[in-house]
Amino acid sequence: MRVLGIETSCDESAVAIYDSEQGLLGHDLYSQAGMHAQYGGVVPELASRDHVRKLVPLIKQLLERTATCAAEIDGVAYTAGPGLVGALLVGASVGRSLAWSWNVPAVAVHHLEGHILAPMLEQNRPAFPFLALLVSGGHTQLIRADGVGRYRIIGDTLDDSAGEAFDKTAKLLGLSYPGGPELARLAEQGNQSRFRFPRPMTNRPGLDFSFSGLKTFAANTVREQDDDPQTRADIAHAFQQAVVETLVIKCRRALQQTGLTRLVVAGGVSANRQLRIRLRETATQLGSEVFYPGMEFCTDNGAMIAYAGWLRLKAGEQEPLAFAAKARWPLNALANNTDEQLTGC
Ligand code: KG4
Ligand code: ZN
Repeated sequence: MRVLGIETSCDESAVAIYDSEQGLLGHDLYSQAGMHAQYGGVVPELASRDHVRKLVPLIKQLLERTATCAAEIDGVAYTAGPGLVGALLVGASVGRSLAWSWNVPAVAVHHLEGHILAPMLEQNRPAFPFLALLVSGGHTQLIRADGVGRYRIIGDTLDDSAGEAFDKTAKLLGLSYPGGPELARLAEQGNQSRFRFPRPMTNRPGLDFSFSGLKTFAANTVREQDDDPQTRADIAHAFQQAVVETLVIKCRRALQQTGLTRLVVAGGVSANRQLRIRLRETATQLGSEVFYPGMEFCTDNGAMIAYAGWLRLKAGEQEPLAFAAKARWPLNALANNTDEQLTGC
């Protein structure tokens, strides 16, 4: 089965073709980051309009590049939420219309399920059950995953997500949007021991997170210090270390509490090098295995949507002609009518 995946939940227009026999045939992405940078963050209406401009040409280009003709596509998967509703509606209407004109089924994919399953595009795939640390721009969650659509959120953020804290702190440090990767780069030049930021909610039991205090701590530190490049790098270093340590402490606790031995780390912040290194060390200490998406599939992409869509299409799911997009969509509200119990290889 060959599936076209479409992702437009935020500021990336992304498409991919996944083939159940041959794997990922190709993927393309257009990032609107440059356009939104001048506003310091995503402007939803501009995002929707840009998806309208970019999506169809991207699909045409991908079909040509992968030498795929429309008749070879067996299904269309599109992100239906959560995300910016206008942006989602562009992907949903294009995806649903293509499926109708090609006379193939369409399926609505949950963006976070896409992220969680993205490591399954790699050679070394995680088998269920596993613990997932989902660290995207909008979410920081610990999820127990027992199968496709069988997710239980066991830890969540009470306020900002880790990605949001990265972006807001980056802005304070004068870095441009999206700040997370830039802050991580700046942190590499930072001094280990100059500042120590708190590790929020780690000294009490539980698996929840809170990152807004850390951002405030960063704001106060910026205000109190001289504004020179080394100080900015030192603050970036201390901030990144605090976020990483906090995530590591909670993952360790969750692995111990659940007895799960596989950890999947997904979402934009899973591209963070320090986080990847520290979680790998922790998993090794606990005798667990950690799985990441490839670097290009950590942040939003079409491949994860094509893959998750394929799993759902093959289980017989499909959307009626009328479609909906959801700005909010709890992950644990997903159907689990696939009996998929993927095994690693
Ligand atoms: O998953 P994603 O692409 O979009 C959402 O679904 O939200 O995640 C985007 C987030 C942003 O907050 C971005 O700053 C962060 O991921 N991010 C990073 C890194 N790369 C992306 N944060 C820290 N270090 C990175 N290397
Ligand atoms: Zn995402």
